[in-house]
Amino acid sequence: MTLPALADLTLEEKAALTSGASFWFTEAVERVGIPPVMLTDGPHGLRKQAGSGDHLGIGDSVPATCFPPAVGLGSSWDVGLLRRVGEALGVEASIENVGVLLGPGVNIKRSPLCGRNFEYFSEDPIVSGELGAAIVRGIQSQGVGASLKHFAANNQEEDRMRASSDVDARPLREIYLRGFQRVVEDAQPWTVMCSYNRINGVYASEDPWLLTSVLRDEWGFEGLVVSDWGAVNERVAGIAAGLDLEMPSSGGITDAQIVRAVTDGVLPESVLDTAAGRVIDLVRKVTDAAGTATGPLDVDAHHALARDAAARSIVLLKNDSVEGAPVLPLAKDARLAVIGEFAAAPRYQGAGSSMINPTRLDTALDAIRQAASSEVAFSRGFSTAVDVAQEEEVSLRTEAVAVAAAAEVAVVFLGVPARLESEGYDRDDIDLPVNQLALLEAVLAVNPRTVVVLSNGGVVALPFAEAVPAILEGWLLGQAGGGATADILFGDVNPSAKLTETIPLRLEDTPAFLDFPGEFSHVRYSEGLFVGYRWYDARRMPVAFPFGHGLSYTTFTYGDCFAAITPSGDVEVRVTVTNSGSRAGREVVQGYTALPGSAIQRAPRELKAFASVELDPGETREVVLAVRRSDLAYWDRRVDGWVVEGGRYAVEVGASSRDIRSRTVIDIAGDDLVVPVSRSTSLGEALRHPIAGPLLQQAMGRMMGGGDASGSIMPEGVDMMRILEAFPLGRIGLMGALGGGDPVTTEDIDRLIDAANGGAPTR
Ligand code: BGC
Repeated sequence: MTLPALADLTLEEKAALTSGASFWFTEAVERVGIPPVMLTDGPHGLRKQAGSGDHLGIGDSVPATCFPPAVGLGSSWDVGLLRRVGEALGVEASIENVGVLLGPGVNIKRSPLCGRNFEYFSEDPIVSGELGAAIVRGIQSQGVGASLKHFAANNQEEDRMRASSDVDARPLREIYLRGFQRVVEDAQPWTVMCSYNRINGVYASEDPWLLTSVLRDEWGFEGLVVSDWGAVNERVAGIAAGLDLEMPSSGGITDAQIVRAVTDGVLPESVLDTAAGRVIDLVRKVTDAAGTATGPLDVDAHHALARDAAARSIVLLKNDSVEGAPVLPLAKDARLAVIGEFAAAPRYQGAGSSMINPTRLDTALDAIRQAASSEVAFSRGFSTAVDVAQEEEVSLRTEAVAVAAAAEVAVVFLGVPARLESEGYDRDDIDLPVNQLALLEAVLAVNPRTVVVLSNGGVVALPFAEAVPAILEGWLLGQAGGGATADILFGDVNPSAKLTETIPLRLEDTPAFLDFPGEFSHVRYSEGLFVGYRWYDARRMPVAFPFGHGLSYTTFTYGDCFAAITPSGDVEVRVTVTNSGSRAGREVVQGYTALPGSAIQRAPRELKAFASVELDPGETREVVLAVRRSDLAYWDRRVDGWVVEGGRYAVEVGASSRDIRSRTVIDIAGDDLVVPVSRSTSLGEALRHPIAGPLLQQAMGRMMGGGDASGSIMPEGVDMMRILEAFPLGRIGLMGALGGGDPVTTEDIDRLIDAANGGAPTR
């Protein structure tokens, strides 16, 4: 579509374009033929509201396929699956004339308490980034834009419109921004949604460093920045910082502020032009791609994809043998007792702006009954209502125990009640309700062949993990989760999902425990780099189930791994994997690196690459893990840049972060790191500097008059040099002539600094 040039628009029209017309639509400029486009949620289904909008998921929306939320999809570690789900989302959005789908969310799961963790993929940035990029590519392949959210460091719901995430440069870059960076660089989402919160005191919606320097200048983002709904604090500051589109409409109030700011000379018109130009670009992309997919929606095909996706999202945490045989998969003719409200009334998505009105809804109970060849008993077991009378609890439990006692296997569905997990607020704990735990204990007492199936958006503590022989982590699985659960229980699908977040033993063990959700609208990210498994590994803490863990009904053996540098400087790790069991299965192979003896603080291991391989029984294949050199880099505050430290890296290949199957090492040449020398450079740093070092040694030699300073003033054995090394260069003069030689003057030091920095005066 040919759209007008900016010069054809009035100041008022440009201001209006950069703010919404309504809840979900951009402003049209009919005079010059600019149509409105629709942006709507996201992220795991289309939530297109028919009437007037709200962003809390209250109003009705058109029926759409509810795929598993990110907590489920993430556990698949399946880039191809994410791409296919993205394509399906794009098709549904395109049929409904939606220009931009608001997702995916790639924020890091900093604390298990975050009420919105179900919308995020992982505690690890590489997993989040890889999966986020795949789903963006899928959505955009259908001519629909994605919106990468919530940019950035939006890791809790408590006080989300104000709280400042106070986070140091390294964790910010290496943990919280890295996933966003990957999606932007690899998949160029049409839009990025800035978050509600502040970062180190500055609102994300008006942070020029975040929205322009990092996002555009460093990462090369070419699309449009849209505000989260209602995230604009000061519109003029926002647009100047790089916020292109305010959503939803401000009813013209902020448009007038923009016009005034331009007229008063406070805001250069060129800045408004840039933002308006980006809105026009977005409108052009959307209108050019309109009608890529045409209806009607193939409801069955998308439901089938949702079932496939859900089955790939269920993590088999544990599958012990009882009387000589693993409890799962279940025999179809076994006498089964299905217990627990969630089997009949599934929790399949979280609350808030992502709530989908599903095209249909499977229950696990129906699907189990359909697949089983003998009768399946059911008992509710507990109630998720708030005020349940004690007698009712007891009678529900008593009935369930009787049903369990009469069955060969009891399948108990437990989970977090819907009201405890939502956008807008966080959880207070990670415990399952006591009535559910009491039920499980009573069932176990009468039937040792008990399987637990969990439904939860954020991780829960599993105090029964030792006692129960088989546990499926079913997260929130979308509309086809019931069928998928039956597929896994009976072994029609072999489980292959793995944890993208650690399941801790206790909330008190979690990295952010003492700093979540902060106070006085500030949240100190005091755990720094040590988020998720990085924390538990560094502190050598036991966990319930580690990051990357997930079992299969078959087994896999790993050969030796080999690492080599590719011509482009990346690292390629090769390992053979064999299906050593008796069923076809998929294994998610994980590659971690570490740098023992590093000069900087590092986690004991960090995930750098993963790949999955499907293998028939007895089959062996080589798996290649592509580790990008850029992912080996740390953020160096001294030079404000990424630096790859040279050295001998440990490479670990494993089935989980705590099930490493093969190890090797690789020598990596480091980046040339030139840290400018200044008066605050320490003596130790200067001595290690290639130019400053020898010069300084000469000067110190003169200062000592050839003598040795240590013996005279320090007791024997004390390392005088280690003490002196901490002195900044600028203060050496204060020490006078330590050994009775020539004092080092300020001029000497400044000459030395200039020489070290390349000759010319640098101060
Ligand atoms: C949420 C976003 C969502 C938007 C529109 C906000 O409250 O944080 O994720 O896309 O509303 O519904």
